[in-house]
Amino acid sequence: MTGTAFIADLVLTGGTVVTSKSRFKADVAMKDGLIALVGKPSAMPAAKEVVDVSGKFILPGAIDVHVHFREPGYTHKEDWRTGSAAAAMGGTTTVFEMPNTHPPTRSVTELRQKQQAAEKSHVDYGIYGLLAEDNIGELQGLIDGGVNAFKCFMGNTFGNLPSPSTGAMLEGFEIIAPSGLRISLHAETASIMAWRQKRLMEAGRNDPLAHIAARPAIVASEAVSRAAELAEWTGARVHVLHISSAAELRPLADAKARGVEITGETCPCYLLLDSRDYARLGSVIRVNPPVRENSDSVAIWQALQSGVVDMIATDHAPHTPAEKSKAVIWDADCGFPGVETQMPLMLNQVAAGRITLEHYVKISAENPARAFGLWPAKGRIEAGAHADIAVVDMERTETIEASRLQSRGKVTPFDGVAVTGVPVHTLVRGRFVQRDRQIVTETSGWGRQVTDIQRMPPAQVRNADQTLAAVLQGPAPVTAGATA
Ligand code: NCD
Ligand code: ZN
Repeated sequence: MTGTAFIADLVLTGGTVVTSKSRFKADVAMKDGLIALVGKPSAMPAAKEVVDVSGKFILPGAIDVHVHFREPGYTHKEDWRTGSAAAAMGGTTTVFEMPNTHPPTRSVTELRQKQQAAEKSHVDYGIYGLLAEDNIGELQGLIDGGVNAFKCFMGNTFGNLPSPSTGAMLEGFEIIAPSGLRISLHAETASIMAWRQKRLMEAGRNDPLAHIAARPAIVASEAVSRAAELAEWTGARVHVLHISSAAELRPLADAKARGVEITGETCPCYLLLDSRDYARLGSVIRVNPPVRENSDSVAIWQALQSGVVDMIATDHAPHTPAEKSKAVIWDADCGFPGVETQMPLMLNQVAAGRITLEHYVKISAENPARAFGLWPAKGRIEAGAHADIAVVDMERTETIEASRLQSRGKVTPFDGVAVTGVPVHTLVRGRFVQRDRQIVTETSGWGRQVTDIQRMPPAQVRNADQTLAAVLQGPAPVTAGATA
């Protein structure tokens, strides 16, 4: 194809392209933000710029469907510029951002506020709307206004947004189901945790392990089971966030087998840490749901390999060092940054032989793109797709240092961990946002919302005749004794 009519903006030459099924040596030409050609060096068009990536791997950028960028409201922890720079540094090209900001993303007014804050982003993004008890009347407006997914906090976590009752959740699912948009669940049952935490506090427990004691795996598995029932009844698409336990895997796998539209994610902390790390890390490890036992990690690894767990996300949840380090575990903010360290940590597992690079592409890019409607525009290195790329050096070794994170939340349980395998360039729609481990600062503002490319498959709504909207509109009851 030499002599092709177009001049490429950029060609990456000498690298190995990785898909979810295979790897092969190929050059990649980009034009106008899209991948124009993947092929032999001799097939490449002339280009304005050619970058040699010999010996490196060309992966679709990671799609992280679970980040908290804190703006508006908690910008001392993070904002859209720092959060998205962390993503760019970590080889992540699209993020879905959570609604537990201040104010929470509960109506179109707050959605517009969030969109304005997101204009600083280095990477592309989806925006979550909240599904809570007090905004049921706003859900349709959020759908029409362009949210990319919904988030339902079944249990309390940072931001302390009240969890909806099962009744309110059902109505929310009924309203959202026809849109086909996915509802992501913080699947922990609030009442169990509140009860146990109160009892533990009364007994004087305030050590780090008391956090696990307050939130045993039944908290998660009960919530997953209940949410799956509501999804099955309504036809709503759901997604189980941050899977932390072996116990959740059964209701998740059962629901999938019944045909429920349900997906699940886990995060690096549930794969790489366990209860033995609490003594060393103290309150830094506090996250909802908690890091649990080694047997949980083992089961989640298996589920990630078998496909019961569909994807890796990060629950990037930055807080300041002061907010994280507390003597009393109940006082420490929950969560830690992750969007920047996910890819190096997981590539390190690839280097260790625990997962293939191909499977990593599947769980970090392809599966999230499919589940959240970004496929085929994103999540693959093929002509026609967005040129969202992580160039990875599998020979490079780095040590994760909390103080050097792009994130404003300079605390991580992975501080001091040496990793092999690092994203050395990140491109979003053909533009370097990170180059040679440096953020390209002028790309703040390059990111855009994925609404124009998002295509969720049509929903299979069930029991539509029994939704609250339907029964409230139904025929007026016949008064006893009335004559026709
Ligand atoms: C998250 C946060 O800080 O926003 N914290 C956490 O422990 N995971 C909220 C959440 O995802 O639960
Ligand atoms: Zn959560």
